[in-house]
Amino acid sequence: MLAIGADLGLFALPQAATGNFGSARLPVPGRQGLFGLLTPEGKLTLTAAEVKGALPATGAPMLVYSARHKGEAYLNPVLVLRKGQPFEATLVNSLQEPTIIHWHGVDCPWKQAGHPSYAIGPNGSYEYSFPITNRAGTYWYHPHPHGLTAKQAYMGLASFFIVRDDEEEALAKELDLQLGETDIPMVIQDKRLTHQGLLDYSPSRDDLMMGYLGDTILVNGQSSPTLKTSTRLYRFRLLNGSTARIYNLSFVADGRQLPFLLIGNDGGFLPAPQQTDGLFLAPGERADVLLDMSSLAPGQEVFLQNMPFDSMHNEGDMMGMGGMMNMGHAVGGASMNHAQGGEGHVMSAGGHGGGHGTHGVLEEGVSYPIARLLVDRAVVYTRKPPTRLPDMPEPPSGGLERPISLAMRHMGGWTINDLTFDMDSAPIVVNRRGPEIWHISNAKASMPHPMHLHGYFYRVQQRSGSPEQVKKRAVDAQGRLATDLGYKDTVLVWPGETVSVSIDFSRPQYPGEQLFLFHCHNLEHEDQGMMLNVRVV
Ligand code: C2O
Ligand code: CU
Ligand code: CU
Repeated sequence: MLAIGADLGLFALPQAATGNFGSARLPVPGRQGLFGLLTPEGKLTLTAAEVKGALPATGAPMLVYSARHKGEAYLNPVLVLRKGQPFEATLVNSLQEPTIIHWHGVDCPWKQAGHPSYAIGPNGSYEYSFPITNRAGTYWYHPHPHGLTAKQAYMGLASFFIVRDDEEEALAKELDLQLGETDIPMVIQDKRLTHQGLLDYSPSRDDLMMGYLGDTILVNGQSSPTLKTSTRLYRFRLLNGSTARIYNLSFVADGRQLPFLLIGNDGGFLPAPQQTDGLFLAPGERADVLLDMSSLAPGQEVFLQNMPFDSMHNEGDMMGMGGMMNMGHAVGGASMNHAQGGEGHVMSAGGHGGGHGTHGVLEEGVSYPIARLLVDRAVVYTRKPPTRLPDMPEPPSGGLERPISLAMRHMGGWTINDLTFDMDSAPIVVNRRGPEIWHISNAKASMPHPMHLHGYFYRVQQRSGSPEQVKKRAVDAQGRLATDLGYKDTVLVWPGETVSVSIDFSRPQYPGEQLFLFHCHNLEHEDQGMMLNVRVV
C-alpha cells in the first residue's frame, strides 16, 4: 500500500526550526493528477474516494475528489472557471459515510452550497448547477457533512476553486504570470503522520476543544517542499486548509523578512496592493501575494516561514474568566474547575504524541519553515509590481447591528451567542433587502476563532480590543489589518477582540428563502457545534 518503506521515518519527523529541505518538490498544479488545473467543459463528476498512494509526502492513502476530464485523470482538481460561466457538477460519494461538497466563498444558493442537511450517504450522488458570479479570486471546496467535516478535510478532501475574469487576466498578462508556473496555488495543511507515514486523525477530547494540531506541515501534500524559481515576480495563492492551525507567514531570506505585496484575499482583489512583511492566515482564509525575487541571485533560498506569535490559548486562563462573566455568561464554580489553566496550557505547549504512534505536535506559535523557494535560474524580468488593482465595488453598509458572542460553555465546547448547532433551528434571521453590521466579540478566556459565513462576504469595519501582535499590524485608525481590506468570508477573532463586519444580504440575490451557515472554521470547533443556521428571508 505504501510507496516508500525505509525512508518513512524521515518524512514523519517533526520539522525542526532549521527544516529538513532535501529533494522533495513542491507539487505544482499541472495538466492532470493531484491538484491538476481543470477548466470544466460541460458537467463534471467528482467522486469522493480513498485513493492509495495519493499523498505526495509519504505515499499514504488519502481521501480525494477524483475526476476524469478530456481523457485526463485528476485528484482534487484545481477548478478554474470564468466569471459568467455555468458550473455543473455531480458529486458521487464513494466513501463509507455521508458527505457533501461546500464551495467555500463561491456564490450559490444554499441548496448548492453544501448545507449539512443535504449530505448524501455512501453511493449517493448530488447535483450542482449554478452560474459563476464571483469576482476573480481564490476560492476553494471541501466537505461539509455535520460532525465529519474536519476528518474528511483532514484526510485530504479539499482543493481550489479559482475564478478568473477579463481584468484579472489582463493583470496576469501585464505581470507575465502563468497559473501553475509563476502563479502558484499553495494549500498549507498540518498533519499527524504515524511512523508508517499514514495520516492519523484521532482527536482526543482536548484536541476537539483546542483543535487538532499536526506534527508535519504539508504544502500541496508535500512536507518540506522546494520550488525552483527564477529571478522574477511570483504570485502565490496561499490557502490555509488546516483544520485548526493558524499561521503567521513571512518570506525569509538570510534571516531577513522580505517585503511582499498582498493583492487579494478571500473575495478577490483588495482595493489597492498592500506592502507587508507578514500576515496571519487562519483556517479557511486565503492570501493572494506577489513576491518579487528579481533582485535575488541563483543559489539563494527563500523560506515561506511561520514566524513566532502568541497562539493565545487563553481558554484556561483564570484571569480571563472575568471577561467571560462580563459578557453575561453564567460561569459557575464547576466550570472554573474544568477550565483550569493546567490542562489547556499543557496542550497548547504541545508535546502530546497522541498515543497512536505519532510524533509530538508542532507548537503553533514557534518559528518553522513551511516551504523553500530555491532560486536556480537568472532571467531578465522588467515588469513592475502593480500600483493599482481592478476596481473593487463598495457595497452599502449600515443597517441592523447584531452582537455576536463567542465563548466557552461551562461543560466545555464553544458557543456562538450561547448556542451550538441545531440542524432544525435558525437562531439568526436576516433580511435579504440590505446590509447588517455584526459585532463579533470573542471572550477573553478563549482562543482565536476564524468565523466564516456562507453565501455572502464581509467588509471588515473595525477591530477593537485587539491583542498587541494584531494591533501592531493595523494599517488604519479602525485597527484593520492589510488582510481585512478586501472582501472576506472568514475573519479571525482573537481573544478579547471585537471585529465589526458589514454584510450586504442583498447581494447576491438568491431565489427564495435561504438557510446558510455561520461557523468557526477551526473544523474541530465546527464539528463540535460552533455553528449556527442563518435564515435569509
Ligand atoms: Cu469552508 Cu462552512 O466552510
Ligand atoms: Cu464556506
Ligand atoms: Cu473556534
